This record gives sequence, structure tokens and C-alpha cells, in this order.
Amino acid sequence: MQIEPLYSVGTGAGIKRSLTAVVIDNVDNSLLDYLAKKGVAVDYVPGMNRDELIRKIGAYDMLVGRSRLPIDAQIIDAGKRLRIIGRAGVGIENIDTAYAGTRGIRVVNAPGAATQSVAELVVGLMVSSSRGTFSDTSRIKGGRYRKDLGIELAGKTIGIIGFGHIGTRVAQLCSAIGMDVIVNDIVDMHDKAQRMGMRFLDKTRLYDESDVISLNLSMEGNRGPVIDAAAIDLMKEGAIVINTARAAAVDMKSIHDGLTSGKVGFYATDVLWHEPPKDPLELDIVNNDKVIVTSHIGANTKEAQARVAALAANNIGDAIDELLIEAEE
Ligand SMILES: NC(=O)c1ccc[n+]([C@@H]2O[C@H](COP(=O)([O-])OP(=O)(O)OC[C@H]3O[C@@H](n4cnc5c(N)ncnc54)[C@H](O)[C@@H]3O)[C@@H](O)[C@H]2O)c1
Repeated sequence: MQIEPLYSVGTGAGIKRSLTAVVIDNVDNSLLDYLAKKGVAVDYVPGMNRDELIRKIGAYDMLVGRSRLPIDAQIIDAGKRLRIIGRAGVGIENIDTAYAGTRGIRVVNAPGAATQSVAELVVGLMVSSSRGTFSDTSRIKGGRYRKDLGIELAGKTIGIIGFGHIGTRVAQLCSAIGMDVIVNDIVDMHDKAQRMGMRFLDKTRLYDESDVISLNLSMEGNRGPVIDAAAIDLMKEGAIVINTARAAAVDMKSIHDGLTSGKVGFYATDVLWHEPPKDPLELDIVNNDKVIVTSHIGANTKEAQARVAALAANNIGDAIDELLIEAEE
């Protein structure tokens, strides 16, 4: 594909136009201000749908968004001038990075920026699951006042799958609560776990020992679900599963079956296979009394959004600078 040459603003000869960006999701104003200061002409259209994006993306050098729309080959191909895809967030599995790479498009994000916010949500979901706070609230609001017996978390074992930014912070917070923390990752992190006073185990042992399982793995490269029927089979009866990573980490039918049989005691999730949910099985899961679901709010705090915007701006800025240097060479 013939890509139009890139021209920068304000650097003398060869100036033809400003760089252009379309921002398709709500982002912190500081990111928009940064792009404007960098001389980028920004169209801010939060909520732009896929068809509109495909129609319009041909006019832009940059696409900035969050996780709402999958940025696939069709969108990338329609972006004839596209040079940078910026994800104002942590994971980039909604972007076909391999395909973008074949077009020489840089993909940048904001790793680590939401760590504390997501880790706090994990703790909140864990306490809500162990004490039934959501069902208690809705019962009382419905005029029924009744106490359910909960469990204490101190002394229980949490198995954390994915020992990266968020998994590590979850491990620290759970340790402070008095939980026994075991961790797993596809990368060998025995030493790190040992330094933190935790055990690094394979998944089989982690499922076998955990009262609570927190999914904090990345899903880049589209690996299949880690929580499937075989994994649930290995779990303790009534285990609490918490998912703030990605819905694809959990097989929908298996978790449905696990909840129905009682093998999974509670499923607390911030992420759904469709957001909002639409699959009949998914709706059945959402409506289960043993399920707590939040609307992908893990990174949705003032603090995390400000950090995401600052880091994304910084990384997009670096990518712009690299492009301009290449254009001058
Ligand atoms: N709920 C939200 O709003 C929200 C916000 C931010 C991040 N996230 C998600 O949280 C997850 C963790 O984010 P992070 O910043 O800690 O990422 P990270 O890249 O720092 O850590 C992820 C870890 O998972 C490991 N991993 C990958 N596949 C694995 C597997 N099959 N088994 C075990 N470990 C595996 C990686 O090796 C890595 O160490 C990501 O999926 C991210 O998309 C969700």
C-alpha cells in the first residue's frame, strides 16, 4: 500500500499539513491538551462507532482510543495515512498489533498507569464476595432484612494468576490483609515471589490450594481461556474467582457450569465477553446471585485516568518525535 509522505508542522521547508488525530473514546483533557500543544489537529469524537470510524479514519495520522472498539485489520486498512495507534489504557489486546506492525504503524499504550486502581477494585470485589455485601444491600433495599454468614479473608489463600504490575500490587495488598499469597505467571518469577515472601506455583497447585483466585494476566497474543472446565475441576469447592483482567481469560460455559454446580462459590468480574452483556448464557451469569459484575471500571478513577493520560501522552509524543525524525531523514 502506498502511504502518503508525512509532513510535520513548524519545521520549515516541506510543511504541508498538521498531523491529525481522531480520539474515539473519553480521555482525560490533559491528553487532548498535550496533543494540541504538539501541533496535532485533534478531532475528539468519544463514542464514534465502527462504521463511522472506517468511513473517516482515512483522514488521520493517529487513532487514539480505549478498549471499546476492536482495532482490527479492516480499520487499520481503512486508515491509509495511519502512523500511530495510541491506547489510552493498559492492555492492547483489542488492537491487531501484528497487522499494524506489517504497516509500520506504531502502537503505544500506558502500561502500569492503572495498577493501584485495579488492585483496589480486586480487594473490593474480594470483600464483597466473602461478605455478600451486594446481595445484602439489594435485599435490604427490597425490604428484606437478613444476615448471611460470611468468611474472613485473613488466613485464607489467594492464588494470583499473572504476576505483573497489577498482580504484584494485589499480592502486596492481600498480604497486608493477612492472606497467604501464591502466584503464577508464564514467566518464571520464583525469585521475585520468594523476595516478597510468597510461593510461585504452577497452575494445578494454585487451583488446588486457593480459596480465592484473582486473574491478573495479560491476554496479548490471544491465548485461550485459563479458567476452563479442567481448571475449575481442580479448584477447591466454593472457590471465589475474581476477574479484573479480560473476559477471554474465562470460558463462559465453564464458569456458568461451575456456578451452577457450586464448585465456583462466587464469580466477581469487572469484565464481560460483551460489554454490555448480550449473549443469553452471559446474561444468565450476570443475573446469578453468586455473581458480582462491574462495568469495566478497574481503571476508571480520577487518579488512574490522569496517570493513563500523562503516560499515553508521553509515549504518543515519543512516537510522534520518532516519526518526524524519520520523515526528515
Ligand atoms: N479492569 C480494568 O479496567 C483493567 C485495567 C487495567 C488493566 N487490566 C488488565 O489487567 C491485566 C493485567 O495488567 P498488568 O498491567 O498487570 O499487565 P502486566 O503485563 O504488567 O502483567 C501481566 C502478567 O500476566 C502474565 N501472563 C500472561 N499470560 C499468562 C498466563 N496464561 N498465565 C499466567 N500469567 C500470564 C505475563 O507474563 C505478565 O507477567 C491485563 O489483562 C490488563 O488488560 C484491566
